[in-house]
Amino acid sequence: MNHLRQQAQEILQANDRGGFTVPTAGLYPFQWLWDAGFTALGWMRFDEQRAWRELETLFQGQWPNGMLPHIVFHRPEASYFPGPERWGTPQASPPTSGITQPPVLASFVRRMLEGARDRALAEEKARALYPKLLAYHRWFKRARDPEDTGLMACYHPWETGADNSPAWDEALAQVPVDPDLPPYTRRDTGHVDPSQRPRQEEYDRYLSLLEVYKRDGYDPLRLYTQCPFRVASLLIDCVLHRANRDLRALSQRFGFGHEAEITGWLSRSAPAIEALWDEQAGLYFNRDLIQNGPIRVGVSASFLPLYAGSSSPQRAERLAQTLRSWAQQVRYLVPSTDPSSPRFEPQRYWRGPVWAVLNRLIAWGLEEYGQTELAERLRQDTLALVRASGFSEYYHPRTGAGLGGGAFSWTAAVFLDWAE
Ligand code: DGY
Repeated sequence: MNHLRQQAQEILQANDRGGFTVPTAGLYPFQWLWDAGFTALGWMRFDEQRAWRELETLFQGQWPNGMLPHIVFHRPEASYFPGPERWGTPQASPPTSGITQPPVLASFVRRMLEGARDRALAEEKARALYPKLLAYHRWFKRARDPEDTGLMACYHPWETGADNSPAWDEALAQVPVDPDLPPYTRRDTGHVDPSQRPRQEEYDRYLSLLEVYKRDGYDPLRLYTQCPFRVASLLIDCVLHRANRDLRALSQRFGFGHEAEITGWLSRSAPAIEALWDEQAGLYFNRDLIQNGPIRVGVSASFLPLYAGSSSPQRAERLAQTLRSWAQQVRYLVPSTDPSSPRFEPQRYWRGPVWAVLNRLIAWGLEEYGQTELAERLRQDTLALVRASGFSEYYHPRTGAGLGGGAFSWTAAVFLDWAE
């Protein structure tokens, strides 16, 4: 195992661009929001100063309204599309994308603080990050849940983290392809076999959504009623619920006094997440906010209410049963789509492959509900995939083959955080 730890560490060092870590060279040459969170957990295992720096650098891209964008374009790089020119956001220095991503950061800051060897450094850094985290979470509530439903509106499949998940098929199909869509050349398929990436029809709509944002001046409240793609994503809602619990703990610890405000958010999000439960399926489903109905496709995020901590023990047991039934159909947990679904594609990005980061989040949830055996199974499967196929972006749930980008930062980071 030691040589793998060494290798994982070397991947983070090789992907370090001076204060930020690229997910992988070429395919993703900038800093991504939730990647940075996981990567910081990895850095924490061998260079705590550098781990905190990862998050500080990410927050350089925070918008004045509190939004934390999903990509910060710290320096120009032609190997990725769409770059800053295509996003055309009002954020100039550093330029950024105009949407967010699963907000893991408050939870990870708390975890970093509690696990730090250098306690004084951790106290100083976490305390300094707190107001930025609070501004980000306040932005979520204000911009994405103005009606106080308890669920956040997401405006792009990229925002959910699970870009081409079959959960978004119908909602995305409703997005009209812009007849004046400026021509573009995908870069991703020059780095990775196209059979492992989203399809062209999806890209046309991903890019058409950017034209909508630009036309609407990135006004979140306008988009709340006008955006042609609006979903409630378990990845965002469960991660945010958990992050709010952790932000509240940080507020209390540092004496910032925001506990009542955050408790108010949590009292709305817990029942709203639980209303996504489907008794017959034994799973939680994402929700289409335009059609106003559940999206009945089981996905790995369907288990995340365990990570949120909103489930009852009975529902947690039922989820564990569902996960065991998935385990009968694949060799490695957790496939990103229910393997019995006709939409399951075991090698295409978020339509079937296993992702180490999702395993990590789901296992945290399982542990907290006392499902330790299943949590350990997820850990063992993740380590086995790395041993068999290296530090890939994602893995085939039946063969264990490594897919997508290689020498991947967040997979290396999860390994460092989880291996011992
Ligand atoms: C991509 O380009 O594939 C990313 O997931 C978007 O953030």
